[in-house]
Amino acid sequence: MCGIIGILGQTLVAPLLVDALKRLEYRGYDSAGIATLETGQLKRLRAKGKLRNLQAVLEGDPCAGKSGIGHTRWATHGAPSVENAHPHMADGVALVHNGIIENYLELRAEVLAAGAQLSSDTDTEVVVHLIAAERAAGKTPQAAVESVLARLKGAFSLAILFEGEDNLLIGARRGSPLAVGYGEGEMFLGSDAIALSPFTDKVCYLEEGDYAVLTRAGAQIYNAAGQQVARAVQTSMVSASMMDKGNYRHFMAKEIHEQPEVIGHSLTAYVDFASKSTKLPEGTSFDFAAIDRLVICACGTAYYAGLTAKYWFEKYARLPVDIDIASEFRYREMPLKAGDLALFVSQSGETADTLASLRYCKQEGMQIGAVVNVPESTIAREANVVFPTIAGPEIGVASTKAFTCQLTVLAALAIHAGRQRGVLSQEEEQKLVAQLIEAPTLCLQALKSEAAIEKLAQAMSKAKNALYLGRGTNYPLALEGAIKLKEISYIHAEGYAAGELKHGPIALIDEDMPVIVVAPHDGIYDKTVSNMQEVAARGGRILLLTDEAGAAASGLEQGEVISMPSMGELVSPIAYAIPLQLLSYHTAVFMGTDVDQPRNLAKSVTVE
Ligand code: AGP
Repeated sequence: MCGIIGILGQTLVAPLLVDALKRLEYRGYDSAGIATLETGQLKRLRAKGKLRNLQAVLEGDPCAGKSGIGHTRWATHGAPSVENAHPHMADGVALVHNGIIENYLELRAEVLAAGAQLSSDTDTEVVVHLIAAERAAGKTPQAAVESVLARLKGAFSLAILFEGEDNLLIGARRGSPLAVGYGEGEMFLGSDAIALSPFTDKVCYLEEGDYAVLTRAGAQIYNAAGQQVARAVQTSMVSASMMDKGNYRHFMAKEIHEQPEVIGHSLTAYVDFASKSTKLPEGTSFDFAAIDRLVICACGTAYYAGLTAKYWFEKYARLPVDIDIASEFRYREMPLKAGDLALFVSQSGETADTLASLRYCKQEGMQIGAVVNVPESTIAREANVVFPTIAGPEIGVASTKAFTCQLTVLAALAIHAGRQRGVLSQEEEQKLVAQLIEAPTLCLQALKSEAAIEKLAQAMSKAKNALYLGRGTNYPLALEGAIKLKEISYIHAEGYAAGELKHGPIALIDEDMPVIVVAPHDGIYDKTVSNMQEVAARGGRILLLTDEAGAAASGLEQGEVISMPSMGELVSPIAYAIPLQLLSYHTAVFMGTDVDQPRNLAKSVTVE
C-alpha cells in the first residue's frame, strides 16, 4: 500500500530517491518523505500530499548525502499529514515502513512508558523508537533490528538508516514485498523491481521473515531464525521505459489503448493459432481432469474476472466452481478438499486478503494456482502453478488491461480444462479458440467508439448515481463497469444482475438515474430487453451497450446505444470491457478527478 526505497549510492542520493518514489507513487500518495545521511548526520524532509509537494520542499532545502531512504504513503494508522509522513526518526535511527504493525498499541504503551516522545499517530514511529532503545542499550544496528523484528506482529517491509553508519542500510520483509537491488558499488532496497529499474536489473526478492544488511559491497541476508541464507539474484524484466505515458494524458488511457496488443501477448502463451488449440505457457503444466472442484478467490476487478471465469469453467469444462471475494473467503472456513485447485487472480500478486486466502488453502492441502501479472510477486512465488497474464506493468490504479488479460487467460484455461476433462471435442475447442483469437481485433474495433463515448461521458459526469445491468457473463461485466466508474469519477454506481432489477433496485429508477445495460445480442438478450423496457417505462435513462442486432431489436424509444461489432459470447466480456473503461475514463476527465491516482485508493492493497 505504500512504496519504500533505500539507496547506498556513489552520488548525491536525494534526486535518485525522488525518482524512485515517482515510480512508486501508484502504491500510495497521501504523503512522501526522504531521509539522507551526510557525514553521519541524518536529515529528513517530508510533505503532505503528492510527491510534487516534497519536490517543492527539496528545492528550497536540498538534502546532501549518498545514503538515503524514501517513502510514499497510503495512510493506515494516522491521517495524511507531515507529522505522520515517513521517514520516522528517533535518536539517530530513521525508518520507512510499508504495511501494518498489528500489535503496535501495546508496543506504543511500552515506548511511552519508557519516556519516548512520539510525534505521530502511526504504528511506524513505535518501531523506530524500539530500535533506538535497543541501540541505546548497546546493541549493534543488526542486533537491534533483529530483536525488534522478533517482537512485531503484522505484515510489513522496512528500510532503516543509522546515524554514523554511512555505509549501512537494513531492510526487512514480512508480508509486504521488498527487493534488494545490486548495483556497481551501490546497493538498493525497493518495494518492487519497477522502483529499482533505472538503477539496476539485478534484483533479489526477500522471502517471508528475511532481513538484509546492505553495504556498498553487497548484502547479507538472514532468515527469520537469524541464519544467513542465500537468495537468488535474478535479472528483472521490468524496464523504466514501461513507466512513461507516451503521448497519452494518463496511464489509464495508455493502458486502455494497449489492450489489443497485450491481449495478443496473452493469447500467444495460451493458444496455438495454427491448430486453434489451447496450451499452457512454456514450463507450466496442470491437469484439470484430476480435480473435482475449482475454488476461485480474488478482490475487486480481479474478482469480477474470476466471476466471469466461473461461468466459463462450469459451461465449457463442467467443473463446479466456488468463488468468493478474498476478504470473506479467508474467514468463511469453506469446506475444501485436498488436491482440488484453488485459483487466485491478482494483478499485483501482493493483495493481502488474496495472499492470506492462498495460504489458508495451502494449509488445507489444496493445489494453488495463480493468475497474476507480476511473475515475481509473492502470490506467484507461493503458488504451485502460475498462469501469467503478460499485460505489462499496469500503473493506473483502475485496472484495465490487466482485467482483459485475466479474462483472456481464464477463457483459455476453461477451454483447456474442457479438453482435458473430455467435455469438449477438438472441433468444439477449435470453434471456441477461433472466437478467442478475435479478441485483439474486436478490442481494436471497440476503441473506435471512443469519440462517441466521450460525448456520452459528458452527460454521465452530471450524474450522482448510476446503475449497471447485465445477465450471464455480462453480469460480472456490469459489476466491473460500476467499479470503474465509481473508483475514478467518485460517482456512486452499482452493478446488478439484470433479472434482479424488479427485486428492489427498480425503485431507484427515475430520469436522474442513468442505467447502463450490457447486452450483446446473445441467447439471453430478449430477457434483458424486457428489463430495459421496465426501466424505460419509469422514465429511466438507458445507455445500451450492444451490437447491431441488439440495437435493432431493442425497441428503445429513448436513450443511447453504444454499438459493438457482433461477436461470439465467449469473447464478448473481453471486448465489451473497453467501452465501459472508456465511459469511466472520460467521465472522470470531465469531472477533473485524478484519473491515475484517485483519492483514497492505491494500486496494490497490501494491508487487510
Ligand atoms: C481495480 O480497478 C481496483 N483498483 C481494485 O479493485 C483491484 O482490482 C483490487 O484491489 C485487486 O488488486 P489485485 O488484482 O492486484 O489483487
